[in-house]
Amino acid sequence: MRKKNDLSWTGLKSKADEVSNTTISAEAPSNIAIVKYWGKHGMQLPNNPSVSMTLRHAVTKTHLSLDPSQEHGIRFRFEGKEQPSFLPKLEQFIDRAAEYLPLLKSFHLDISSENTFPHSSGIASSASSMSALSMAILGALSNLKPETEEFKRQHSFLSRLGSGSACRSAFGGWAAWGTTSDTFAVALPEVHAEFQSMKDAILIVSAGEKSVSSTAGHQLMNTHVYAETRYAQARKRTDELVQIIKNGDIEAFVDLCEKEALELHALMMMSDPYFILIKPNTLKIIDTIREFRRETGIPLAFTCDAGPNVHLMYREQDAQKVENFIEDELKGYCENRRVIWDACGDGPVLKFGE
Ligand code: DP6
Repeated sequence: MRKKNDLSWTGLKSKADEVSNTTISAEAPSNIAIVKYWGKHGMQLPNNPSVSMTLRHAVTKTHLSLDPSQEHGIRFRFEGKEQPSFLPKLEQFIDRAAEYLPLLKSFHLDISSENTFPHSSGIASSASSMSALSMAILGALSNLKPETEEFKRQHSFLSRLGSGSACRSAFGGWAAWGTTSDTFAVALPEVHAEFQSMKDAILIVSAGEKSVSSTAGHQLMNTHVYAETRYAQARKRTDELVQIIKNGDIEAFVDLCEKEALELHALMMMSDPYFILIKPNTLKIIDTIREFRRETGIPLAFTCDAGPNVHLMYREQDAQKVENFIEDELKGYCENRRVIWDACGDGPVLKFGE
């Protein structure tokens, strides 16, 4: 596949007084990767392509006010409370974004945000939060309509500067990063109906803080003995998954999805230093899922992020049987029996004047 790393920054406002929407809100979803991004270089560039499904209900809402009368600075509140500990990461992101949007430094930025999913539920909030903030910023500083391809590409590019996986949340449905470009993701153009309505039940094995951050995990790939083999595998699986999603080959999906999840955790267990993020109940859930599949023939697939929780992916037509199974046999392995019911979503939304 040919990659273009350049992006044209068309449609941007050039003067502070052109910015009329000084209060703007964005709602952006999290996403679940099937082919995993694990390993990066340079300015947030992936060492291999990845493919994800955008979620519907796990969303960050961000409100941004831009004040040209005050000196540049950032105020940040999360769920109504001042969060000075988040400021260094935000400042770093704003500095990176300002290289492409210099006008950003002409304003004082008041940012407040909240998640629809519970705090420390184990859902990666960096994807939804960086996507929401990037969309609000671009919405204020661009003349382009948010529905345009150019806006979406620029949105994805900016989100990547905050968190790699966030660049895939600029799109509804399914997205790939590292295929067309390493600097922004693209929506998969052909998605079979069964994948458009796919469900994802997130089984919360542990809601606690992860013992290793994704950023530290990515770094360990730089010296990993299997790094090159892994990147080749991910490239091959990306090509396969794009076809699977187009054709609706659910059996092939299950096989690829589970192998990717296990490979991610195998890589962590073989890095130096190694780390183990799955818990005994993660393995019990995996075993129970495989047994259910053997007995019923229903094609459901597990995947995991860099943590102990399990995402269970299944078709809408199997929802009733799978959800009964989760209720009866899997909830007992979850912390406080917690499951977050999600599904394939439509992507982020921008609102002016709110
Ligand atoms: C395992 O996007 O959180 O979820 O770019 O350092 O912010 P940074 O990393 P991040 O890594 C996500 C890793 C993953 C797989 C994936 O989402 O593709």
